[in-house]
Amino acid sequence: MTMGLPVALSGLLLLGCGGGEPTDAALNEAVASPEARARGRVLFEDRCRQCHGPNAAQRTRGARQPPDFNAAAWQQSRTPRMVYRAVRDGRPGTAMPGWKSLGDRALLDLVAYLKSRGAGARVTRQ
Ligand code: HEC
Repeated sequence: MTMGLPVALSGLLLLGCGGGEPTDAALNEAVASPEARARGRVLFEDRCRQCHGPNAAQRTRGARQPPDFNAAAWQQSRTPRMVYRAVRDGRPGTAMPGWKSLGDRALLDLVAYLKSRGAGARVTRQ
């Protein structure tokens, strides 16, 4: 009988964490944070540059070309959540792997960096 509550609570906690999706507030906070962008840039140069190129602009690898993250059209058509999901889950059937194992902090930092590129730098600063 006393077992019921802890079990129910841990179930709730698992649900809360297991969804793996940050709130809108967490996404917006990261995108607005110069520190998060700077950390994301370092990560990007380390893990992503090989395909996406320096400054996130390379578009030359594989059959499916990575987009130019600096392009206004890309920035305007991608919300932070869309970018978060693309980085976390990757793009099945393309060279783009999922990066869930980096953890949520790193994923948010990468979103912050990518959304600071090109036109996004202006759009996200109020
Ligand atoms: C092995 C090559 C490779 C690596 C490494 C890689 N990517 Fe990609 N990425 C791609 C390709 C190819 C695409 C285009 C996939 C498609 O056509 O949908 C892509 C697409 C994306 C997209 C979706 C773009 C859109 O259309 O909205 C995002 C975001 C992204 N990559 C971020 C990253 C980040 C961040 C990293 C590093 C943590 C990374 N990628 C590492 C190859 C790579």
